[in-house]
Amino acid sequence: MRKKIVAGNWKMNMDYNEGISLAKSINDELHSTPLSGKEVILCTPFIHLQGVSSLLSSKGLSSGAQNCNDHKSGAYTGEISATMIKSTGASYVIIGHSERRTIYKEDDSLLSSKTIEALRNELKVIFCCGEVLAEREQKIHFDVVKKQLESGIFGLTEEDFANIVIAYEPVWAIGTGVTATPDQAQEMHKYIRSLVEKRYGKECADDTTILYGGSCKASNANELFANPDVDGGLIGGASLVKDEFINIIKAL
Ligand code: PGA
Repeated sequence: MRKKIVAGNWKMNMDYNEGISLAKSINDELHSTPLSGKEVILCTPFIHLQGVSSLLSSKGLSSGAQNCNDHKSGAYTGEISATMIKSTGASYVIIGHSERRTIYKEDDSLLSSKTIEALRNELKVIFCCGEVLAEREQKIHFDVVKKQLESGIFGLTEEDFANIVIAYEPVWAIGTGVTATPDQAQEMHKYIRSLVEKRYGKECADDTTILYGGSCKASNANELFANPDVDGGLIGGASLVKDEFINIIKAL
């Protein structure tokens, strides 16, 4: 069955103590308002992961990383492997975020290797896709997203694909305050689901969670999540403010 998910992407924000305190307050809040079948994931900086993972006790609340290396281990100074992430108690990793694609020049082939390495370590993957503004203006946004999915995750077996959550994040909406309209989000999410159906069949497409990300906040989450193919959100800025994040979860 398709899972509804809200994932917070903390990016490079908050020191260790601030992160622990935010995670604690979210955990406490979700004890008093249980998630009833929905899932909430806190994707923290690497150094927060162990501490956050060990304090989460609310049902449906878990932790994840924002990136991983594509190798098992070895001489990769400064890098973090999927095995290390798994050993902290985390269950997810974000792969292919537009900031990784753009700033750190991560290409489709690297993202595919990272995905495989994460799955090999029994981490679930939140795989991001999305077009930049110029691509939407040229009306090639569907082709761009199709290519990202084909190169990044459509080579996986059906069994592996069951551990993928797709996040559609139009790059022009990330951190800009400009959100895709509910119609724009639904149109792309429906298209993505049709691609999954073509590749893996209807049952798998129906079961695949597709999140929207890009300036999603408490004030617009309701109308975005009301769409039949929008199964929740990947939240950046608004996941750093407890009440805002909790209200987004409530919108789900
Ligand atoms: P934003 O970021 O919510 O701050 O726009 C979303 C993301 O980058 O995942």
